Amino acid sequence: MKLRLIISALACLMTTTALSAPDPSQPSWLSDAVFYQIYPSSFQDSDGNGIGDIPGIISRLDYIKSIGVTAIWLNPVYVSGWTDGGYDVIDFYKVDPRFGTNTDLVELVNQAHARGIKVVMDLVAGHSSDQNEWFLQSKEAPNLRYSDYYIWPSFKPQSGSNVQMQGGGTLLSKFVATDAPRGPFYIKNFFDTQPALNFGFANPDPSHPWEQAVDAPGPMAMRRELKNIMSFWMDKGVDGFRVDMAASLVKNDDDKSETIKLWKEDFVKWFDQEYPEGILIAEWFNPAQSTEAGFDLDFFCHDGQYNYSTLFFYGRRGRGGQEPTPPYFDKAGGGGLQTWYNLYKYQYDSVQGKGYVSMPSGNHDFNRLCTEGRTTPEELKVAMTFFLTMPGVPFIFYGDEIGLKQNPAAPPTEGSGGRAGCRIPMLWDGSANAGFSTAPIDKIYIPQDPDPDRMTVEKAEADPASLLNYVRGLLRLRKEVKALGADASWRLVSSLEQPYPMVYERKLGGERCYVVINPSAKAVTVNLPVEASKPELIGGNYRKCTYKQGRKGDTISISATSAAIFKF
Ligand code: NOJ
Repeated sequence: MKLRLIISALACLMTTTALSAPDPSQPSWLSDAVFYQIYPSSFQDSDGNGIGDIPGIISRLDYIKSIGVTAIWLNPVYVSGWTDGGYDVIDFYKVDPRFGTNTDLVELVNQAHARGIKVVMDLVAGHSSDQNEWFLQSKEAPNLRYSDYYIWPSFKPQSGSNVQMQGGGTLLSKFVATDAPRGPFYIKNFFDTQPALNFGFANPDPSHPWEQAVDAPGPMAMRRELKNIMSFWMDKGVDGFRVDMAASLVKNDDDKSETIKLWKEDFVKWFDQEYPEGILIAEWFNPAQSTEAGFDLDFFCHDGQYNYSTLFFYGRRGRGGQEPTPPYFDKAGGGGLQTWYNLYKYQYDSVQGKGYVSMPSGNHDFNRLCTEGRTTPEELKVAMTFFLTMPGVPFIFYGDEIGLKQNPAAPPTEGSGGRAGCRIPMLWDGSANAGFSTAPIDKIYIPQDPDPDRMTVEKAEADPASLLNYVRGLLRLRKEVKALGADASWRLVSSLEQPYPMVYERKLGGERCYVVINPSAKAVTVNLPVEASKPELIGGNYRKCTYKQGRKGDTISISATSAAIFKF
């Protein structure tokens, strides 16, 4: 009997250990990485034209380092037609002149490396600009060098191709009518200005001659080109890529099996051999699939079925058009955790031993954390505590560390549509345009918050209680306490029936923490299992937080709008 108990305890221990073990093939630096995402047009302008650039980023590297992050993800810096914020690439091998030169990029990488910071670029794998020379040639005739880099349907089928594509819509909705000689249609990936690159079709339909097999000469040439692009930048010293719309490559691939195979058996295999210390981040929005495809990590944020809208978004209707529900991270305290928990838990369980799920604090495609009902430093500290104590690799969207505020009035800029309000220029100091640029105010890329009391890096530096200094403290703690890191296991301890506060356990080896999150404007108490010892409070922004041991159960009471971290 005793032996049985020991065996089952051992088995349980082994499962837990296996559950939190990282992928053995991942680069050594990834476990401890914390990313800072930079939208280059909006970070720092060095030449006074109102648009950020690479020398500007270089000049701010010391600040970036001071936050405690270890890596940068740069949104696209390639020559672009600027109809989609840089995601419509004209030349994959050249930095857009607005940002500087390839030499500037190499200088950024070197300077970042000198400070122990990695640099990851965006890789727009699924499409190019319609101004790219490959497309200009492809649209002319079928037998030129780049002809088969794109897909040219000779007619539009009446039905079929109902497979949902990443980026929205079915393949039929991606047919763009054109008067180009190769017309009458090409297939786009996102906007009309972004023709899809041709990686072939899953199960090509013989009655659709444009549907080439994944291993046909056209798609194979496309694969070689993509590897060439990756090598070009990796050989210049960059540390990896965030792959845009990584799930979109093979068309009509309902269950994504061909796209997974393409990444796993070709791109990732090759990349891992050539660049064992390089990383590949997917924009797939389904970590269970993307880590299967060999990616090191994937996002869980605004898009796809697996998203965190119920935690953070104001005014989002349900999938069935139901009335918007209040987000969990709101002082009204009317949100719930169930929807998010089900989706997150599925993803978290799926990636164990294969990669990471990352919940970023924001990105260039959706409203900033600091928006609508959530704008005070204390509210933002609670959310940041969550982002920086969850498993996986954290991502901070530039400016979120000072509470840079969504600008709902920002006019659409360079294909942003409604996304301009989060792509606003960084606020550095009290000088003109908050130190972002010396250009006249009407030349600033996207209008900044005109509020004279707006938060800046300079003000945040001077205030020990600022969000910035809180984030710095959290990142120091995350580095010190491995139970708060990427590989430590995660478990929701509090009940879904009583969502405020949320309490989760993080555990690695012998080290164990509880994180308590109360975004509501009410003090709350939660019942928890009995513990052998009382944990120590090691972090948070609480005004009051107490842990009480009881014979029937322990309790934590925490003040309004507060987060706390306990260590056992
Ligand atoms: C996802 C990017 O994040 C977004 O900004 C872009 O518009 C689309 N992919 C198309 O490239």
